[in-house]
Amino acid sequence: MATRSPYKRQTKRTMIHSLPTPSASHRFISRKRISMMIPLALFSGAIFLFFMPFNSWGKSPGSLDLSRRIYEIEVVAEFPHDPDAFTQGLLYAGDDTLFESTGLYRQSSVRKVALRTGKVEILEKMDDSYFGEGLTLLGERLFQVAWLTNTGFTYDLRNLSKVKPFTHHMKDGWGLATDGKVLFGSDGTSTLYQMDPRTMKVTDKHTVRYNGREVRYLNELEYINNEVWANVWQSDCIARISPKDGALLGWILLPNLSKGLLKSGHRGIDVLNGIAWDSVKQRIFVTGKLWPKLYQIKLKPASETNEIHIERQCLV
Ligand SMILES: *[C@@H]1O[C@H](CO)[C@@H](O)[C@H](O)[C@H]1NC(C)=O
Repeated sequence: MATRSPYKRQTKRTMIHSLPTPSASHRFISRKRISMMIPLALFSGAIFLFFMPFNSWGKSPGSLDLSRRIYEIEVVAEFPHDPDAFTQGLLYAGDDTLFESTGLYRQSSVRKVALRTGKVEILEKMDDSYFGEGLTLLGERLFQVAWLTNTGFTYDLRNLSKVKPFTHHMKDGWGLATDGKVLFGSDGTSTLYQMDPRTMKVTDKHTVRYNGREVRYLNELEYINNEVWANVWQSDCIARISPKDGALLGWILLPNLSKGLLKSGHRGIDVLNGIAWDSVKQRIFVTGKLWPKLYQIKLKPASETNEIHIERQCLV
């Protein structure tokens, strides 16, 4: 049977790259000097861009800093989470509202959840024969995949009524996310897929590796600041993956969340799973399967001691 799972969703970001425009004062400078200055300006501009981390282009103040490779986390806030929700997909849709997909046969569902209270506001049950997995939101439609099948489902964002099933071409359905244009998918292997949301055809796919080793069990996904974040099933790690080429950009280490829950007596919890991103307020939320809490976290650079053990902790 099944103790694993995945999931997730989307955001988009517009980057405005402005190039310097000639100012009026240029008119008073001799042509000869201009002809010397232009190559110099282009050269220094190129050098500047070359050394600037890609993810800081067009960054607004207070936005997520992803210039390091390895992060650990700090909890900013804790919210209640349905301890019976076997979280497989999670996303933030604005207005302190989350959408969540849950797994387990006969208990699978799609839910609209109030962030602050954890209250389930709408629940759409899946057919008993389906085990819910990843969830993402594109426009007005939620897309959900299911375990051990190529069948997925779409739902109307407003009332969670089922719209129609679809067939995808991944080996299995674990995670989903979107940048607002394509769907990203995972199937429990080390492959990150890109799919056309209209046809569900695979348009691109990449194998994710760390130090030459495949990062298997890619699970719940989230698209955050031009990166795809993936829970790695059965680990307390989130892999940060480049959507362009599947390159492993870094890791986020979260072992203290499940440890804390176990220490305070929550014996029934399953693994960390579920990432949601509020792109407007730049808030990151995480939870796990059957976790009684959902956390708002912030990143901080990992200590060297924590960095050393990545392979052991994160590669299952
Ligand atoms: C977990 O918490 C301990 C104790 O506060 C701390 O020393 C350690 O660095 C933390 N680990 C991570 C990966 O955050």
